[in-house]
Amino acid sequence: MAEPRRENSGPVGPPLLDLTIDNITPNTIRINSQSDDQRLTYLLSRLVTHLHDFARETRLSTDEWMAGLEFLIACGKICSEVRNEFILLSDTLGLSLLLDNINHPKPAGATEGSVLGPFHTHDAPLLENGASMTSDPAGEPMLAVCTVRDTAGNPIEGIKIDIWETDSSGHYDVQHSDRNEPSERCVMVSDEEGRFWFKGLKPVSYPIPHDGPVGKLLERLGRHPWRPAHIHFMFEKEGWDKLITALYLKGDPYETSDAVFGVKKSLVIELGKVDKETAEKYGVEEGTWLLKHDFVLTTQKDTEKLRDDLAKEALAKLGLHNLKLVDHLPVPDLD
Ligand code: BEZ
Ligand code: FE
Repeated sequence: MAEPRRENSGPVGPPLLDLTIDNITPNTIRINSQSDDQRLTYLLSRLVTHLHDFARETRLSTDEWMAGLEFLIACGKICSEVRNEFILLSDTLGLSLLLDNINHPKPAGATEGSVLGPFHTHDAPLLENGASMTSDPAGEPMLAVCTVRDTAGNPIEGIKIDIWETDSSGHYDVQHSDRNEPSERCVMVSDEEGRFWFKGLKPVSYPIPHDGPVGKLLERLGRHPWRPAHIHFMFEKEGWDKLITALYLKGDPYETSDAVFGVKKSLVIELGKVDKETAEKYGVEEGTWLLKHDFVLTTQKDTEKLRDDLAKEALAKLGLHNLKLVDHLPVPDLD
């Protein structure tokens, strides 16, 4: 390991001696503020402030501190190539949804975002419009007929759309140890009229993985691990704000108690049934479940502007002054 850096000019700042409950925070921030990376300095400064305030406000006991560290160690130990307990922790603490709301604000009329979750993969097959993405004969078939438009109603052609959902048992393909190819997932591209359509399954509700430390925490908190029935969509095209969202089925028993806080009213939909004409047009049986939805995307430029405006407003409201936005992120304004 490299020797720690020793400054020729001697130590920076006041001597770190006799630190107390009241002065440890500014001193820790000061010693952490020697990097040229302004954003890192700001992040560490706010992190230390909130961590120290948390300990002071709760009079955190040493046993509780140790239990917290052991919980984090257990989260690390259960992580694998296909399992990230820390994302699950972030999801169940509401942090993931909060970050999506901060980073991808939406003007009225645009499709809102939702949680990504840990089950998106990069090996989904590219399917032609009208193809089936399901290989589960036990599920209830569903035809999805969708469009993607801008906020003025113009169709967006050539958007890449990742779509994924569970099988009828409430498991994603990656949760099956014998998975040898992707299933219940695909990638599509919108046509010149912004349309895409595919055959999948009527979504079912399912519990998030709860056999690890996060599941134990939920149990201790008296919380259930269920997500309401949903299907995930991710839209990507240069110049457009990446949209990660999901559509939720109205009337699901977990509609207002999602374990990861992903449901928004505008994302709750009702399935219809395919009529005779539609059945003939799309090659499905009459009476099949029908999902019809029009997605609305915003440009990257509009989103960045909205994000900056909201950031300035939020920081002022929090009483955080003398900050400026660099690359759309706050840092101390030292000029
Ligand atoms: C999901 O919807 O796939 C999901 C989201 C958060 C945690 C676990 C699963
Ligand atoms: Fe999901």
